[in-house]
Amino acid sequence: MNRAPELAERLLFQEAVTLTGRAYAPYSGFAVGAVVVGPSGRSHHGVNVENASYPAGLCAERAALAAMVAFGERALRYVAVAAAEERECLPCGLCLQALAEFGDPAIVARLGGEVRVVQLSDLLTTPFTFGDGGPAGDHAGGTGP
Ligand code: THU
Repeated sequence: MNRAPELAERLLFQEAVTLTGRAYAPYSGFAVGAVVVGPSGRSHHGVNVENASYPAGLCAERAALAAMVAFGERALRYVAVAAAEERECLPCGLCLQALAEFGDPAIVARLGGEVRVVQLSDLLTTPFTFGDGGPAGDHAGGTGP
């Protein structure tokens, strides 16, 4: 299921659209911007960063996620992702798994020609975990304060 965005969600999507201008995508020509928001309400930004060694490239969503964690937040509320030129882009499977580590955020993206909101758990129903309840899902584990 997906729904229409609220005003704040639409603004987050616009922020992601603006970020596409900073993407480094000389190989695919597919520029992506992502914004993630945790409990503080602050926006954390990411763009895709490609590489001549193709697998070394990084998706925008995981770049934004890393910025959020480096800032000190470990819970995801919103993810907005946009591709340049109004092309459609939902997080790839790898990014869904990475995002699921930190919750079940609302994902704002262009879908069927419109900006829509979909829950991560609708896109990835069974993320990998070690099956013991943590740290994936409880957001408190791992190394750090
Ligand atoms: N890409 C993202 O940044 N996010 C996605 O969810 C899907 C794909 C990037 C990776 C690569 O730089 C380009 O888009 C084409 O796959």
